[in-house]
Amino acid sequence: MRFEPHLAEALAAARPLLGTGRVADYIPALAAVDPLAFGMAVATVDGEVHGVGEHERPFSIQSISKLFSLVLTLALGGDGIWERVGREPSGSPFNSLVQLETENGIPRNPFINAGAIVVTDRLHSLTGDAGTAVADFLRTEAGNPLLDTDPQVAVSEAGHGHRNSALAHFLASYGNLENPVATVLENYYAHCAIAASCRDLALAGCFLARHGVLADGTRLLTRSGAKRVNAVLLTCGTYDAAGQFAYRVGLPGKSGVGGGILTIVPGHGALCVWSPGLDPAGNSVAGVAALDAFTTSTGLSVF
Ligand code: DON
Repeated sequence: MRFEPHLAEALAAARPLLGTGRVADYIPALAAVDPLAFGMAVATVDGEVHGVGEHERPFSIQSISKLFSLVLTLALGGDGIWERVGREPSGSPFNSLVQLETENGIPRNPFINAGAIVVTDRLHSLTGDAGTAVADFLRTEAGNPLLDTDPQVAVSEAGHGHRNSALAHFLASYGNLENPVATVLENYYAHCAIAASCRDLALAGCFLARHGVLADGTRLLTRSGAKRVNAVLLTCGTYDAAGQFAYRVGLPGKSGVGGGILTIVPGHGALCVWSPGLDPAGNSVAGVAALDAFTTSTGLSVF
């Protein structure tokens, strides 16, 4: 398929929306980002990349990192993590505290903050350094030696992280953390603060389109393991907007408050879009429109 005309169509759909929505400002270092920025890249399973706009400009990946911490945890630690975190959509905001008490410290899914904190805790026990493990994985899959955590963003978030601290202490009170709260949060912020481009993330997400096989041909997840991660992405990856996202885009995807969205087209490749203005659920407004246009014009969808 020639992707350029479809990427141009995606850009045309996004353009009138650039600057709309709200840039995340609860992490002060993110508030300074250019609200008009836009980039989009598609990487095919054989490693070809096509892009439009600022697809090679790094941005803060934030919650997109939760996908990579989950797959590394599953690959290294097996399915035991599912005893500590669920697989159901939460229907609540990504940083909500309320469900955690009624559900006895077991977060609904690995992509809301509470669930991702539990996954980071497990990954830290498995690797000794969860933040570095996620950055190393992304660097290798993207083939970009410069890819790394932006320490300024990590420090900025840690300085304003009362909600995540509350979630982590709550999890600890239910016995659902293995490591000290401060250690877990430091690693969680480190992987959320990774700076990567649409190109990097599309390449790094491709192993899910290859049904679990990494860029070097080795296997990270079984075929059914990759299917399951894609299923959790589809149902939970864009929080309480997952229904609307599936309706408009028709692909498993993970969003972040930096304005990025990574989606998987099983068997074909991965698509990443970035534009910082967010809707109330924390998903990029222009990004969703661009993905909607791209999947509609290419017909690439799981449906
Ligand atoms: O913990 C937080 O609030 C951020 N580090 C990540 C949140 C996020 O990206 C939600 N996604 N849309």
